[in-house]
Amino acid sequence: MHLILMGAQGSGKGTQAARLAPRLRLEHLSTGDLFREAIAAKSPLGQRVQPIYDRGDLIPDDLTVALVEERLDRIAADRAEGLAARGALFDGFPRTLAQAEALDALLARRGEAIAAIVEIDVPMDQLVSRLSGRRVCPNCGTTYHVEFNPPKQAGVCDVCGGTPAQRDDDKPGPITRRLENYRTQTAPLLAYYRERGLLTRVDGAQDIELVTQAILDAVGPRLADGATSGTSDGPVRDEA
Ligand code: AP5
Ligand code: MG
Ligand code: ZN
Repeated sequence: MHLILMGAQGSGKGTQAARLAPRLRLEHLSTGDLFREAIAAKSPLGQRVQPIYDRGDLIPDDLTVALVEERLDRIAADRAEGLAARGALFDGFPRTLAQAEALDALLARRGEAIAAIVEIDVPMDQLVSRLSGRRVCPNCGTTYHVEFNPPKQAGVCDVCGGTPAQRDDDKPGPITRRLENYRTQTAPLLAYYRERGLLTRVDGAQDIELVTQAILDAVGPRLADGATSGTSDGPVRDEA
């Protein structure tokens, strides 16, 4: 079973996914993180997508879907070996109607299902200040905000001691472009999922912990097996 987090850039998908994945025993699957890893590694994929990424545009659907399929295969293989993830916690995928349709086809073929889709709703004026103040640790990926969610010691990652830095696409030009792409290409997916009764909206303009609780309250029943208790130790369940 899989869970999808939707919401505009800066709505808190990555922040929430990192908190929710261990509690729901899902694997955090962020296509943005996968593209950033490929770019940092200067792999063939990374070199191909870097100019598109830096502009703030969407990577072509075929490349994105292939990346997701590969990751789902790995999660299924881990599950077959008794490792704990019950499925994927999608962050930033799907983002176009073609990706949503490809995901449906892919899951149908695999006999897997989407348990729920959560839209994290944040007003536009707050998105820009969240994105421009974001800092991400290059070593461990922990996300901070200079004002709303700073590390304990300024400029030092709480988790690993690294130096959180600004993302290349968190500059004014790409920020505007990404938010516009969300409005034109991704927001229409909300109706696609709402019509199927899968979509729940939570208020993302509240404290990070309150947003986490709102999501757990919204999806808990659909992902229920006691995994929402906040601990990650317990019996491993292997339903998909
Ligand atoms: P991606 O990495 O997915 O970036 P994004 O969509 O632009 O989303 P963000 O990561 O900016 O926002 P978020 O919702 O995760 O916010 P966060 O939790 O960090 O994609 C990057 C690029 O990769 C795309 O532009 C595209 O090129 C490519 N790509 C990725 N997926 C693709 C796909 N499916 N198809 C095609 N191309 C794809 O929070 C933001 C800030 O706010 C942080 O500083 C955080 O500390 C702070 N914050 C979080 N919650 C709160 C709160 N409740 N209160 C106050 N501050 C908060
Ligand atoms: Mg993110
Ligand atoms: Zn770190």
